[in-house]
Amino acid sequence: MARVLVIFAHPAFERSRVNRALVAAARATEGVTVHDLYEAYPDYLIEVRDEQRLLESHDAVVLQHPFFWYSSPAIVKEWLDLVLTYRWAYGEDGTALRGKVLAQAISAGGPELAYKRGGLNHFSVRELLAPFEQTARLCGMGYAEAFTVHGAHHLDAAALVAESQRYQAWLGALRDGASPLWLPTP
Ligand SMILES: Cc1cc2nc3c(=O)[nH]c(=O)nc-3n(C[C@H](O)[C@H](O)[C@H](O)COP(=O)(O)O)c2cc1C
Repeated sequence: MARVLVIFAHPAFERSRVNRALVAAARATEGVTVHDLYEAYPDYLIEVRDEQRLLESHDAVVLQHPFFWYSSPAIVKEWLDLVLTYRWAYGEDGTALRGKVLAQAISAGGPELAYKRGGLNHFSVRELLAPFEQTARLCGMGYAEAFTVHGAHHLDAAALVAESQRYQAWLGALRDGASPLWLPTP
C-alpha cells in the first residue's frame, strides 16, 4: 500500500466549497496524509527540509488546489521552487523522489468542454499541466492521470458529495497502485 501525501493549497479556504469538501474526503481516506500549505506557511516561509522529509516518507504526492490562471495558486509554485532542490530532487545524486508518483487534484470553474481546441480555454487540462508533468519526469517520478472537478461554481450539495466519493476512489486507486498513469514510473 503506497503512502499518499496530499499537498493542499487554497488561499481563501474560508470561501471554498469544492476543495473544502475534497480535503475532508482526503482526510477521511485510509493511508492518506493531508498537508495544508497556506495553513502551515501563511507567510510563505517554507521549511524546506521539513517538506523534503515529508516527501521522503511518502510514495505518492498529490497537489490538490483550485485551477488559478490555468495553473496552481502561488504557494505551490513557491513550494516547488524551494523544495525540489538540485542534488536532492534532480541532478547529480538527486534521487530522493525517484520511483514515486506525482498527481494533481484540481477544481476548475470552467466546464470540461471549454478545455479543448475551439473551446474557451483552447487547451486540455493535461496540456496546461505540462510543466508539472515534466517536473515529475525530471525527478524520475511517474505522473498519474489528474482528478478534475469541472464547473465548480455550479455544483449543488449532492454533486459535492458525489465528487467527494469519486475523489476518495481516485485516492484509493493511487494508494493501491491502481491509478492510470499519464507518465509511467521509470
Ligand atoms: C485567481 C483565480 C483564477 C482562476 N483561474 C481559473 C482558470 O484558469 N480556469 C478555471 O477553470 N477556473 C479558474 N478559476 C475558478 C476557480 O478554479 C474556482 O473558483 C475554484 O476551483 C472553486 O473551488 P473552491 O470552491 O474550492 O474555491 C479561477 C479563480 C480565481 C480566484
